[in-house]
Amino acid sequence: MVTMTDLMRKEQFDASTEPLLRVRDLTIEFPSGGGGWQTTVEGVSFDVGAGESVALVGESGSGKTVSSLAVMGLTQATGGRISRGSIEFDGRDLTKVPEREWRKLRGTGMGMIFQQPIRSLNPAYTVGDQIAESVRKHLGLSRKEAMARAVEMLELVQIPRAKERVGDYPHAFSGGMCQRVMIAMVMACNPRLLIADEPTTALDVTVQEKILDLLRDLQEQTGVALLFVSHDLAVVAELCQRVVVMYAGEIAENAAAEEVFFRPQHPYTSGLLASIPQPGLNADRRLHAIPGGIPAAADWPTGCRFSPRCPHVAPGVCDVEHPAMAQVPTGEARCLRVQDLDLQGVSVR
Ligand SMILES: Nc1ncnc2c1ncn2[C@@H]1O[C@H](COP(=O)(O)OP(=O)(O)OP(=O)(O)O)[C@@H](O)[C@H]1O
Ligand SMILES: [Mg+2]
Repeated sequence: MVTMTDLMRKEQFDASTEPLLRVRDLTIEFPSGGGGWQTTVEGVSFDVGAGESVALVGESGSGKTVSSLAVMGLTQATGGRISRGSIEFDGRDLTKVPEREWRKLRGTGMGMIFQQPIRSLNPAYTVGDQIAESVRKHLGLSRKEAMARAVEMLELVQIPRAKERVGDYPHAFSGGMCQRVMIAMVMACNPRLLIADEPTTALDVTVQEKILDLLRDLQEQTGVALLFVSHDLAVVAELCQRVVVMYAGEIAENAAAEEVFFRPQHPYTSGLLASIPQPGLNADRRLHAIPGGIPAAADWPTGCRFSPRCPHVAPGVCDVEHPAMAQVPTGEARCLRVQDLDLQGVSVR
């Protein structure tokens, strides 16, 4: 028998499992040539739980950066506007708070790192000064405390000889080390959410691996949640617990990582998986996995946006009706044929 106490316990449990970030129906527009507005991200909904690691994946132009910048409250700064939807962080809808509060949150609640770390660092100041400046501003530490925090942060991101390196300028650091400095700067204010937009794309494969290891370590040590943006499913395989696949401004599939690789529910996800190089498969497969490219927002097809490229397209259906998100056992997928298809994932060896 279920008792009142059980119910209350369940309620408490549910409350404590409220996601840290809850994005719902997020729709973003940019000015179009003719004085109107063009939708570039539409109806995007996903959650990131506290301490969770979620990947936002898709080809170039799918809307990953536009969506992440919106979470950071930077849509307006990039010339766009949020025309619909909500971005709840810790239970508060950020689309309704004044810019000042969002700015405060950007320092302490969440932080973002980018593909080209060197561009985000100021060449005229030492890395220590830059980290210290950030913690003084956001945490109100004294100069001395802030510098000690900078050293501690460089140690946290595993930069050797942190006490000496804190006095170096950004140009003295390699690409991988610069990315560590950026991560240190963002982590210095104890954010609960770290957004990483292609943080390893510009780096060599070996350096890339080390940054991924670092992010994993940081999550274990600090419990920070991670929204990891990448065009490469192979990169997110080991790092993320959930995978959100974007295509042409909307979500194509959202599923647990352990499921999505073996049982993709959207032909686009299956195509992305087929482009992951696998030993024993000829290189041709990679090139021909998904012919064509993502259409620009102004040319999105009427039906399923992936239908012109989809090997499973049902003519007269998929090119006519725009699919809604459908619940599937592994999560959700935006495909009209989701019930009929048995899609190829990566093979387990
Ligand atoms: N400031 C802007 N003004 C107008 N359009 C924009 C702006 N920023 C992005 N867009 C458009 O929004 C769409 C999505 O872009 P976004 O940068 O989010 O793609 P992405 O998935 O991050 O791609 P990539 O993998 O290349 O980084 C693109 O069609 C892009 O041209
Ligand atoms: Mg991008």
